Amino acid sequence: MLKSNKLSNKNFLSSLDISTEEFFYILDLAKKLKNKELYIDLTNKVLGLIFNKSSTRTRVSFQVAMSRLGGTTIDLNPTTSQIGRGEPIKDTARVLSRYCDVIAIRTFNHSDLEEYSKWSSKPVINALTDLEHPCQALADFLTIKEEFLDFKNVVLTFIGDGNNVANSLILCGALFGVEVRIACPKGYEPNSSVIKKALEIYQDKNLLKITNDPYSAVKGANVLYTDVWSSMGEENVKENKDKNFIGFTIDRNLVNKANKDAIILHCLPAYRSKEITDEVINSSKSRIFDQAENRMHAQQALLACLLS
Ligand code: CP
Ligand code: NVA
Repeated sequence: MLKSNKLSNKNFLSSLDISTEEFFYILDLAKKLKNKELYIDLTNKVLGLIFNKSSTRTRVSFQVAMSRLGGTTIDLNPTTSQIGRGEPIKDTARVLSRYCDVIAIRTFNHSDLEEYSKWSSKPVINALTDLEHPCQALADFLTIKEEFLDFKNVVLTFIGDGNNVANSLILCGALFGVEVRIACPKGYEPNSSVIKKALEIYQDKNLLKITNDPYSAVKGANVLYTDVWSSMGEENVKENKDKNFIGFTIDRNLVNKANKDAIILHCLPAYRSKEITDEVINSSKSRIFDQAENRMHAQQALLACLLS
């Protein structure tokens, strides 16, 4: 167990910016904060939020998390700040880090996030890029741990597009030694450098499986997870993707092929009858809204660690 909240890395750009030990520590802290067994004081600390894409959960959970810790947030709407005008990241980052204590950024290119972190003197958090969604994965693994108590023998099957959410699940799976199966149509496989990094970490390389067959991927799975087929910024390919993803809907039939104790996760927002049915979202196996709540608890713990 860690001796203090302090993380070895300044930033949280990727799930791999924290070690397995630090990850367990954050989950433990999140659970204590959730159970109100602990109070952390971040009075006078300010979190700057930059959303170059829409957000409900990430925005609100960060705002409430910060407020619960006694701090404040500033939502730097790109359209009403100079960010949307194209001010260079290196200038925005240097200025904002003189005002804010930590900055969370949602943007398209992961390299833009890295550019922010290069020029910011304060910690930078990935609030979603096209490559990763590590804050989501923190909440996901908190939800899985609440259900199964530990990660031993957990099989996590993700069915859908192998992009940001799937990439972060793979990296976290590698850190915890959790079996992760990704079922996606041909051509929608997860990022190859993410797969490579994960395989370097996994002691048992067979624990990561990429397949184009959702039915074989759910056999014996304890967690069924999905995400929208077309991510933000992919509106122009939506029609094509909807066709290519036929057969990849989490519906009653697919759920019945998983383990009896299987739970259902979705990062939300969801398109009903596309990646998941309304029936499954509302079923007794769904932990989707606990998962959404856990965003706030996990991020409180993350902020406490980054600001300590
Ligand atoms: N899951 C998630 O990040 O949701 P938002 O896009 O609403 O933030
Ligand atoms: N893959 C989705 C996740 C939304 C939380 C997207 O990037 O839009």
